[in-house]
Amino acid sequence: MTHSRDPRRAVPWWTRPGLAYEQRDLCLAGRSLAKLARAHGTPLYVYDGARLLANLGRLRAALDARELRSRVFYAMKSNRHPPLLRALRRTGRCGADTCSPAEVARARACGFAADNISFTGTSLSDADLAALLRHDGLILNLDSLHDIARVAALAPGRRVGLRINPGLGLGYRRNRLLRYAGGRGTKFGIHREQFAAALRLARRGRLVIDGLHFHTGCGYLTPQLPVLDEIFAACQPFVARVPGLRYVNLGGGLGIPLVAADRPLDLAAWSAVVARHFGGRGVEVWCEPGDYLAKDAGVLLLEVNTVERKGRTLFAGVNGGFQLHLEPAFYGLPLVPVPVRAAAPGARLQPTTIAGHINEALDLLHVDAPLPPLANGDLLAFLNAGGYGAAMASDHCMRGDFAEIFLPA
Ligand SMILES: Cc1ncc(COP(=O)(O)O)c(C=O)c1O
Repeated sequence: MTHSRDPRRAVPWWTRPGLAYEQRDLCLAGRSLAKLARAHGTPLYVYDGARLLANLGRLRAALDARELRSRVFYAMKSNRHPPLLRALRRTGRCGADTCSPAEVARARACGFAADNISFTGTSLSDADLAALLRHDGLILNLDSLHDIARVAALAPGRRVGLRINPGLGLGYRRNRLLRYAGGRGTKFGIHREQFAAALRLARRGRLVIDGLHFHTGCGYLTPQLPVLDEIFAACQPFVARVPGLRYVNLGGGLGIPLVAADRPLDLAAWSAVVARHFGGRGVEVWCEPGDYLAKDAGVLLLEVNTVERKGRTLFAGVNGGFQLHLEPAFYGLPLVPVPVRAAAPGARLQPTTIAGHINEALDLLHVDAPLPPLANGDLLAFLNAGGYGAAMASDHCMRGDFAEIFLPA
């Protein structure tokens, strides 16, 4: 639901500091989105630097409150817009998590030192590994026996981390499409039955195992913390087998509210689970959130160009589609549209399906969003578009053009 139907709640559920109607104009970081759209055109991603940094600050505070020796690496796969990366780097409280040689190069270009960049990738070619090993000090987590053997051959004696699949995972509202660990056929990490072989291979190659890495979730919220607790318990036997570990990296996966029924992740409860399993043992606790920092810092602005009822469905066509933000189509995740110009008081909301401009049946950005009557030229802001939007965009149908702007804090 986009708007509260409760007359006592005058403001929509998603309103937050920095994202609200001022008069009837939707503003992000105090800037009118309608004016930004006029100045830069649409499709347009707009990122709120203050929100990004507030998200980092909140996470760091939750870790610090548990007196954990911790580090946060921002997962730049969620959003690699250079001004956003530079803003995080300038805090001095955040490294970069990367998954390709090109991401490492971008992080370096944005000022992150190699030893402040963690790499965890999959299906790496020899050329990938060679490119990565050129960055002296890069923190490298290996997710297959193959990678261990290759790095041992190319860089004997190197410090590495191992990405472990503890056999359990969790996703937003039990979404099975978001499985990073557990389940049959998960491609990520060294599986339990491979672990002994991984340790043997590393020893034979004189690699020093510096850390273990467990990225097991995507978009989890407070109701799922008991599952996280189980997952962390399942990680313990792996940790116990590697004496002298410098770090345990818990990956990302911390979620944000995407629909009215969601509540923000209780970070105090989250850090309590983390501390219970990994605190006080002399090992650093690292995490690498993407969405938690970037997702609610961004909106995607699109313009309505077609409003038409077909069968029983009222469609509003817009000048963007799943090539610009594929989470609704690919992962079934909600991308909530709100009008940039607030509806007149008392306007009747009607279920409206937002159709993209791509010739694919999957290209619906939202089904049955409760919206006021729309007309051509109206602007819609898609909320929580700061993570895995622009970063996953394609040029399908040769409609890949969009702009991005970052509003500094
Ligand atoms: C290894 C690894 N770390 C961190 C992340 C970031 O996840 P999120 O954006 O859900 O926090 C991902 C996402 O795919 C990942 O694969």
